[in-house]
Amino acid sequence: MKRRLAYHLMPPRGWMNDPNGLIYYRGEYHVFYQHYPHGPKWGPMHWGHFTSRDLVHWQEAPIALYPDRPYDADGCFSGSAVVDPLGRLVLFYTGHRWVDREKKHVRQVQCRAFSRDGRGFEKDPANPLIAEPVDVDGGHIRDPKVFYRDGRWWMLLGARKAGRGEVRAYRSDDLVSWEAAGVVARSDGALGFMWECPDLFALDGRDVLVLSVEGPKGPFVCDGERSVTGYVVGTWRAGLPPAGQAVLEHGPFVRLDDGFDFYAAQTFLGPDGRRLLFAWMDDWQGPKPTVDEGWSGALTLPRELVLGPGERLRMRPARELVQLREAELINVRHWLVGASDAEMRGVGTRGVGIAESAEVNEAADRAAVAVTRGDRLEIDLTFDVARSTAHRFGIDVRASSDRRERTRLLYDRRARRFRFDRSRSGIVGGIREVSLSAERLRLHLFIDRSSVELFVNDGERSFTARVYPDPGSDGVLIFAEGGAVVVESMRVWRLKDIWAGMPQ
Ligand code: FRU
Repeated sequence: MKRRLAYHLMPPRGWMNDPNGLIYYRGEYHVFYQHYPHGPKWGPMHWGHFTSRDLVHWQEAPIALYPDRPYDADGCFSGSAVVDPLGRLVLFYTGHRWVDREKKHVRQVQCRAFSRDGRGFEKDPANPLIAEPVDVDGGHIRDPKVFYRDGRWWMLLGARKAGRGEVRAYRSDDLVSWEAAGVVARSDGALGFMWECPDLFALDGRDVLVLSVEGPKGPFVCDGERSVTGYVVGTWRAGLPPAGQAVLEHGPFVRLDDGFDFYAAQTFLGPDGRRLLFAWMDDWQGPKPTVDEGWSGALTLPRELVLGPGERLRMRPARELVQLREAELINVRHWLVGASDAEMRGVGTRGVGIAESAEVNEAADRAAVAVTRGDRLEIDLTFDVARSTAHRFGIDVRASSDRRERTRLLYDRRARRFRFDRSRSGIVGGIREVSLSAERLRLHLFIDRSSVELFVNDGERSFTARVYPDPGSDGVLIFAEGGAVVVESMRVWRLKDIWAGMPQ
């Protein structure tokens, strides 16, 4: 079980995909997820369940929903949660049935289940609540996101119509009877043939729609990806003539994460009003080596969302995650890598930990310094780009002692490009690159046994990746090419294993 994560949510056994029903209810965070408990593969979906009091330490709760009714026999698909006026926790989900043997046509109906204690769930005898035959391709309409706004309840659904993805709205006064309220947004073709897991929310005075797109063709697609999660920012208008429809007037679609393994993101409000997000830290395409260990899929760390300059969303690790810190391994300021000893003395490194570091042999114009080791680390590193002379510099993590295996984060100062290089991370591959101009480059990293999450410059960019190196590849190195790089500050913590001692 060498790839089991130390501080992420993952299925206790079997399969996990989308996060579902995220909510803070009666003093606890609830995370449900698409779950198949009988093997590490997608199968008739259940809703698995975790709870937490602090967003950091989690307990497994009993499976909340089983595919046990005629209307959901092939799966309880993704959905959301609200607290109703009676104080009950209500889960909305899609009941899924295959209609034909080829599994091309589906019957997808919208359902709900209640709980008074946040543990046991009862399906509504009135299910399915929305079941009329809908005019969508192949019956594809799913993933209800329910929210209260302007004095009524709304439900958004992802759908497929005339070969294009769209979001449909329904509205309700009682959470039971739902009336169609139009198409909120639609793919222009480049935005794919099916939209999944829509999520609409107000943030910093604007309305944001997060979407998971199947079959995207736009410039935001990397390396032939077949699905991508992103968002649009705009204005929600409801109650429009002739029949009170809702639409979102919005700007262009933007990728939410620039990495490899980030799909089906969902958000919810924390008790203090913060907009929090989890996504499935995997995808439908990539290799899933943990299958050999009997499990597959994980969720990202919880992230806080804010709207940044240019109406771009910024994701940052939830502040609660500082509680994961178990030991501080490195704390240095003003440190030069790739310079002579004399130059280094001039800079006057201060801090703890680096004395244990060692220069690694490199070609004449390259330098690399081994900093520490670990496979569950938080690293908060700031390079002073303006004062550095190196053409290219960065950090290697999960590096083997011969450095053949490594996950490399590299900044090219002259090209002004940042690269997340997974081509030598073991089993998986790929390089993701973005343009980035910065005087200072802050890399905030969370490394777990089979994942790396990176937040660049306070969430200006984020990169999420599963990596599957040899368990012994746990080196962390700073490198510089063609000059010296100034590390303005670097702190490293070993993080807790929140699952230690729990039956695995
Ligand atoms: C997204 C998705 C959803 C669906 C669920 C099924 O990853 O395809 O649209 O509800 O997964 O597990």
